[in-house]
Amino acid sequence: MEYAVSNIATQDLDVDSLVVCLHKDASNLAGAVPEATQATIKALVEAGDFTGKKQQVLTLFSPEGLKVKRLILIGTGVDENTPLNIVAFTKLATEVQKAVANTGSQSAAWFIDNLQVEGQDKTWHVREASRTLADAQYRYTHYKSKPAPAPKVNNWQIISHADKNRAALALKEGVAVAKGMALTKDLANCPPNDCFPEILAEQALALAEEYPALKVKIITEEEAFEMGMGAFCAVAQGSENEGRIIIFEYGDMKASPAALVGKGITFDTGGISLKPGAGMDEMKYDMGGAASVFGTIKALCELNAPVNVVGLVVAAENMPDGSATRPGDIVTTLSGQTVEILNTDAEGRLVLCDGLTYVQQEYSPSVVVDIATLTGACVIALGAHAHGVMANDAELAHALLEAGDNTGDRGWPLPLWDDYQQQLDSPFADIANIGGREAGTITAACFLSRFTKEARWAHLDIAGTAWVSGGMKKAATGRPVPLLTRFVLDGAGQ
Ligand code: BES
Ligand code: MN
Ligand code: ZN
Repeated sequence: MEYAVSNIATQDLDVDSLVVCLHKDASNLAGAVPEATQATIKALVEAGDFTGKKQQVLTLFSPEGLKVKRLILIGTGVDENTPLNIVAFTKLATEVQKAVANTGSQSAAWFIDNLQVEGQDKTWHVREASRTLADAQYRYTHYKSKPAPAPKVNNWQIISHADKNRAALALKEGVAVAKGMALTKDLANCPPNDCFPEILAEQALALAEEYPALKVKIITEEEAFEMGMGAFCAVAQGSENEGRIIIFEYGDMKASPAALVGKGITFDTGGISLKPGAGMDEMKYDMGGAASVFGTIKALCELNAPVNVVGLVVAAENMPDGSATRPGDIVTTLSGQTVEILNTDAEGRLVLCDGLTYVQQEYSPSVVVDIATLTGACVIALGAHAHGVMANDAELAHALLEAGDNTGDRGWPLPLWDDYQQQLDSPFADIANIGGREAGTITAACFLSRFTKEARWAHLDIAGTAWVSGGMKKAATGRPVPLLTRFVLDGAGQ
């Protein structure tokens, strides 16, 4: 697929489909198309054929005043008094893509100058339009014997009067982030029999082959054990598939890189504290945090971004075999602190704590952000819309929230007060790995905070946002790659 941005007048466009999104009563029509075409559209509005309501699609073949084969009008559902918000704008791109995919078009253009998200400039619109448009092309058909035929479109143009050079960069960034998201989705959608820690390690090495600027190091489970990663190994030891720690080095590792640490549980059965059967298949996406580290690194590589980032993925399969960890087992973490494992299903924090200690010891990072499908409680608290954001540093939390607001990939803060810490007390070890029924998302973060005392650290709980659940809708979302990429490009909270 080719993507381009230009400021060509729509009457000079020579593509199969031109898409224009119109508010109620076509109030944002001026400037989008020449007078003759406007007259046709106004007649359609007057006749009641087009109202501009949300998701309305109307196609004009051989439209008056234009060279394009089709003019596709899409309703935004917005009127002058209710400005378009970021989320509505990004959803619109999905409809634009769908409308064109439903035609025989090979080339298409989307005119975006008549859309204005409050507080955002033209360059932002180019970036988000290209990102969401490219992301909407994603399909996962790897295991379908007869996949539905792919849409014929191979060329997309975004039409905007944004400054030419800045628009070109914005388009490049949008497409790069979409590519990163596609990798994240591929990994999280992949079935757990074909996506286990060794495979993730292979995928990481393949990425380093593709991008010479990227270096990858792998730590095997045996090496992790020798190094003293007792918590990581407690999770990995119950599976035939060995655990792996994967390290991405992008940029200068001596310059206090930003660290991204991803939970990579390639399947979470719960271990001996076995999960109920219904919906357990979806626990293949318990490596969504890891997948978002892969995707963000890929986006940065695509952009040749001048940043220093270390990505660390703690990959293990949480299975209940004869050598699995028991509830009551006490392990020693890489930090030296001991943990009483009361519930083997609270495994994410166990693999993460050793990864967090390691990345701090080895890289002296300027900031540490971990990304994890950590708690079901976060799905209950925030649903599918916002990542849970917890941090020991207010500025860092702010930078993450801003990056989310700027991309529509939003997070929301939860408190990390000391008051919650006592829920992790254990009579036998330094810490217990669960904190009871109350505030499960926060106590999980409290657990991690015990291992990040010296760092500026934040935690993203993406249990609700990395995946769409249920039936035929089941799919990875590619989140929070847009947030993370923006965060890093904007200086990683410094
Ligand atoms: N991977 C799960 C969390 C999860 C649940 C992610 C639902 C996505 C959707 C995690 O490992 C887990 O099992 N957490 C437990 C913690 C509990 C035992 C303290 C949970 O949330 O129930
Ligand atoms: Mn679990
Ligand atoms: Zn898990």
